[in-house]
Amino acid sequence: MKIIIAKNYQSMSRKAADLIIRQIQMKKNSVLGLATGNTPLGMYKNLVRACKKGEVSFKKTTAFNLDEYAGLSENSKNSYHYYMRENLFKHIDIDKKNIFILNGAAKNLKKECENFEKMIKERKGIDLQILGIGLNDHIGFNEPGSSFKSKTRPVNLTTATRKANRKYFSGINEVPKKALTMGLATIMRAKKIILLASGKEKAEIIAKALKGKIKPTVPASILQKHPDVTVILDKEAAGIILLPKLVK
Ligand code: F6R
Repeated sequence: MKIIIAKNYQSMSRKAADLIIRQIQMKKNSVLGLATGNTPLGMYKNLVRACKKGEVSFKKTTAFNLDEYAGLSENSKNSYHYYMRENLFKHIDIDKKNIFILNGAAKNLKKECENFEKMIKERKGIDLQILGIGLNDHIGFNEPGSSFKSKTRPVNLTTATRKANRKYFSGINEVPKKALTMGLATIMRAKKIILLASGKEKAEIIAKALKGKIKPTVPASILQKHPDVTVILDKEAAGIILLPKLVK
């Protein structure tokens, strides 16, 4: 595991975007796994800028998104379809047929997830997966206790996650109780992974995930077993791992 400590959020975002650009320059038809949330917003801004300047083209690139809320249509402003469209896809030259986001409004959610796994396999797997990390240590919507063998599936969201995401909704009752997410095994099959974290509120969970015991109650700890993970942190998120004696 390679850990890069950036001086601030902007620098973390630039470094992450540069790694994605390098991946696409190396392999034009790269298959990316993408995340939503606050953390990757700066990275997406850098990618949009680079695409507009002609430094990178996504024409041959495929994108699979990590997760989506169940019950929200793709036009709902809180859906991850909407987030991806507004923050990335509508500004770059990616071909729509190469965008795969779980449909949270599908009638049969289980089937939707099975089909998603099939699509990833058909594209020969994910070359580079981007991850953020939740305050309860989730990756994707794999909440604490998720099986390390889990595949893409419908899940129940914990109260902690619903509370953390309430800021995007008009109230906690509006936050869906269910979501669809790539599983931990699905994520681990990606050839390369980049984990991003920013801000001091992430310092403790980052230390637990990267230096603590590998166990399902700390879902992100599974990343310690992956052969090619790059973690990009800003100084605040790195705060505790810089003090290794404090890490249990
Ligand atoms: C988003 C996702 C989540 C977030 C995590 C951190 O697609 O899968 O695991 O990465 O909740 O969210 P932020 O970046 O908002 O702190």
